[in-house]
Amino acid sequence: MKIAIPRERRAGEHRVAASPETVKKLKALGLDVVVESGAGLGSNLPDSFFADAGATIAPDAASALSDADIVLKVQRPLIAGEGELDELALLKRGALLLAILNPYNSRDHVAAYATAGVNAFAMEFMPRITRAQVMDVLSSQANLAGFKAVVDAASEYGRAFPMMMTAAGTVPPAKAFIMGVGVAGLQAIATAKRLGAIVSATDVRPAVKEQVQSLGGSFVAVENEEFKQAETAGGYAKEMSDDYKRQQAALVAEHIKKQDIVITTALIPGRKAPVLVTREHVASMKPGSVIIDLAVEQGGNVEGSELGKVVVTENGVKIVGHANYPSRIAESASLLYAKNLLALLQSLHDKEKGITLNWDDEIVKAIALTRDGQVVHPAFAGQTV
Ligand code: NAI
Repeated sequence: MKIAIPRERRAGEHRVAASPETVKKLKALGLDVVVESGAGLGSNLPDSFFADAGATIAPDAASALSDADIVLKVQRPLIAGEGELDELALLKRGALLLAILNPYNSRDHVAAYATAGVNAFAMEFMPRITRAQVMDVLSSQANLAGFKAVVDAASEYGRAFPMMMTAAGTVPPAKAFIMGVGVAGLQAIATAKRLGAIVSATDVRPAVKEQVQSLGGSFVAVENEEFKQAETAGGYAKEMSDDYKRQQAALVAEHIKKQDIVITTALIPGRKAPVLVTREHVASMKPGSVIIDLAVEQGGNVEGSELGKVVVTENGVKIVGHANYPSRIAESASLLYAKNLLALLQSLHDKEKGITLNWDDEIVKAIALTRDGQVVHPAFAGQTV
């Protein structure tokens, strides 16, 4: 059975879907591993590292992908008209594709996988059950994004994070406010704290309050009845009422004008990100303050943030809207992502039969978008090209 790892071709993507460690373990499962030349360069993994781990290095995508039974990617493959190459056309019918497919924002791709006869699995749909924690790409990548956001904020900020008492005078500590305390937000709190900032945080899920406090942050939220109910069984946030949003915005208005650093991470799965920082909030902040909008690709939590740009407002506030945060810390992100994929493949592996798909398995059901030429995921069923 051949497993292929092509080079990522989407702009700004520096990650790769395998590491030397995972190649070794895939080989141990009895798979032939083929890595396209240059696939790891963005993550400081030269071809020789993969070759030493037992992979065959293919000179181009076509030779890497031809006859591959399993294809590991970070982002969804390019399709006709999207770039230098129609990657999807290089996959054979019946191939299993594992990637962060972003199907809500690329419904035409879902139909294209079915037409191509590719069994496409969206890694970001991994259910949050104990067995699947090791395969949870949202967590592995968001954790690193939360860290990198704080490091970026520190480098954009013209002052120091920790309080410093020096002979030449005292530098006050930075005040950092983290909005949205999921995986990325928790890591942002921990990182800002380690750098010496005074940290506060907000979220609509009540379970978060204790987590914020245990990391040494203070919690800022309107804690009414709606707040007490605002969590789904899966642990995700619900869309809040307009009334709640108004009350929360007023509370945030008072708090935010005293902040130096704001990092927003709020997401609601499958929907546009909620706006948490309005133009008025931004206008009330001090010159030199820095806002990092980690949700910019899902529509943004911050009014005025722009994808791929650092915007400086009239009152001197920097709004940072970098795309693809995990790719900004590609080496670590690749290692963890590759481990997530490996864990899934190990769970699909049978000593006698090799990699086999049990279509009734809870994990397979949750992540499978297409099967044997059909769109099978309920969120996309009925999709046509
Ligand atoms: P996410 O990336 O979907 O959202 C980030 C955060 O934004 C969430 O905490 C959410 O509550 C918050 N948010 C949404 N709307 C907001 C608003 N209007 N104002 C303020 N905050 C808002 O979340 P993520 O990181 O995927 O985590 C979601 C939950 O899943 C957490 O409870 C996390 O601990 C849990 N989790 C469970 C895992 C498991 O059991 N295997 C693995 C990873 C996370």
